[in-house]
Amino acid sequence: MRRIHIPSVMKLAGESLTEVYSPSTFLALYETYPEGCLVALDEEVRGFVIGIETYPGRGRILMLAVKKEFRRMGIGSMLLKSIMSHFAIRGISAVFLEVRVTNIDALGFYRAHGFEIKKIIPRFYTDNTDAYQLWRKL
Ligand code: ACO
Repeated sequence: MRRIHIPSVMKLAGESLTEVYSPSTFLALYETYPEGCLVALDEEVRGFVIGIETYPGRGRILMLAVKKEFRRMGIGSMLLKSIMSHFAIRGISAVFLEVRVTNIDALGFYRAHGFEIKKIIPRFYTDNTDAYQLWRKL
């Protein structure tokens, strides 16, 4: 991802993710960990992933989304593989993320990629929806 992609990423996040993130969140993530901010590009941004290293040896995927009309074409998998490769190069051995318990699409996606439910985090989201914490070894 480059700085010029940030507005498109924010738009896609607003269309695809239930949780609302402020522009300053995207800017701060890009400034502090640009190597974990990846986009799938054609003429436009079709998907993005943002992952960070939380502790030594541990990665966390914060956001991943693909434009609605381009889903089920392998773009999400490509983004996930790219961020997992980045994590592996950094010596990260376990990757964690949270998904709304109601987000059947994302649960299907992450399960297809070997992620397992570790626990439920009650009222994780700002609207008080619970999250599943998922994880996978690398
Ligand atoms: N239901 C069940 N399984 C699914 C689904 C689904 N809706 N979508 C993908 N999968 C599984 C399938 O096994 C699929 O393979 P197949 O198409 O051959 O059956 C496999 O995952 C790979 O799918 P991709 O085409 O690579 O995934 P896609 O590009 O559609 O992206 C994503 C998946 C990112 C979850 C997309 O549905 C999306 O953008 N959803 C809205 C945003 C969102 O909820 N993001 C996750 C929030 S949690 C977080 O970011 C940490």
